[in-house]
Amino acid sequence: MTGPAGHPFDAPTAARAALETARRRTMALTDPVTDADLIAQHSPLMSPLVWDLAHIGNQEELWLVREAGRRPGLRPDLDTLYDAFQHPRADRPALPLLGPAEARDYVKAVRAETWEVLDATDTSADRPERLLADGFVFGMLAQHEQQHDETMLATHQLRTGPAVLDAPAPPPAPADAATLPREVLVPAGRFTMGTSTEPWALDNERPGHEVDVAAFWLDTVPVTNGAYQEFIAAGGYRDPRWWTPEGWRHVQQTGLEAPLFWSRDTGGGWTRRRFGHVEAVPAEEPVLHVCWYEADAYARWAGRRLPTEAEWEKAARYDPATGRSRRYPWGDAEPGPEHANLGSRHLQPSPAGSYPAGAAPSGARQLIGDVWEWTSSDFDPYPGFAPFPYKEYSDVFFGPDYKVLRGGAFGVDPVACRGTFRNWDYPIRRQIFAGFRTARDASGEDGGRA
Ligand SMILES: [Fe+2]
Repeated sequence: MTGPAGHPFDAPTAARAALETARRRTMALTDPVTDADLIAQHSPLMSPLVWDLAHIGNQEELWLVREAGRRPGLRPDLDTLYDAFQHPRADRPALPLLGPAEARDYVKAVRAETWEVLDATDTSADRPERLLADGFVFGMLAQHEQQHDETMLATHQLRTGPAVLDAPAPPPAPADAATLPREVLVPAGRFTMGTSTEPWALDNERPGHEVDVAAFWLDTVPVTNGAYQEFIAAGGYRDPRWWTPEGWRHVQQTGLEAPLFWSRDTGGGWTRRRFGHVEAVPAEEPVLHVCWYEADAYARWAGRRLPTEAEWEKAARYDPATGRSRRYPWGDAEPGPEHANLGSRHLQPSPAGSYPAGAAPSGARQLIGDVWEWTSSDFDPYPGFAPFPYKEYSDVFFGPDYKVLRGGAFGVDPVACRGTFRNWDYPIRRQIFAGFRTARDASGEDGGRA
């Protein structure tokens, strides 16, 4: 197995760094919060923060200490309490959960054993135990912790009261952002979707397989708040023509009229609440906190459609010069601050047109970072999919109930984000950090097959 630019993948070093980064973030999301606030449920959609904290520790105990380390573990009695499948989020506050101090002690004690296990484990690429080869299970747990950190970030966004998180604003858009073409052409032809080689790719990203994609046009940048406001002003939320029947029913039942966290200000414009701050909605920023139905309706109103998942991935990874799929839009190098808005460096998306160094060969920008992007596709297994390391990781979610999101948002860590990474959620979900871009067919405009 090789890492970026052909360097051998140093699994123990990568595992240690990824687990340390995740823990720093977990603490940054829970340390500034009072005990009462950690125990409180800020929305029936979310767990109390203290549940996520101990669940992170429990999963780490289960997979790294007990499974990888073959040790007895610290608190196997907690498994049932922190099993996400046994207790829906709304029921979690009523459980006899560990208190904040106990939960902090628990995750610390588990981590101490994890370091001993990591030091004692052979993570070479060629060992037959798939869980340990390339340190996969350590990478899986770092991704798990980061994904719960993202969920906890969503809880922070839902909680009311004074702000407790802060981060510098992203840099302004580069000079050429205003003159970028509205859309980029992705030529027709086959490309490799998914991966069989990325060391820490999860089961649903595998295996790599060839997909034929017809030529299409894709928005160069995600749809902005300014563009979305035009849809609102044009009566988009009141016109059933733009909505699927389910989407229209949902709008009528819930009274949706703008993205979540937006309010009309006295001058007829829009303000939003962002991690406890109320501010004017910035027109140039990618729109955030819209559900799939809203994204789909906007696209229809604009005379376009959402991209399929395969189209999104081809636009993000396919390099026509070499015919191969890259790890990221810009190449195989790990994401840096010049490439993408990831890792909670900022607590909002960057202006549309940012990160020219992160552009894909197609010319599209911000495919990675800033906002998760809804695609038109259901969450389905790739041909040859095999559940690993357990069925509940992905397999039980496949089917038409969930729509795929791609690309990651500002609050996603690089370890849990790559060109092949797949996220999924219900089409009504708005508290996640999701936006979108639109596409259209380009039949006959690409001069034939590539
Ligand atoms: Fe989990």
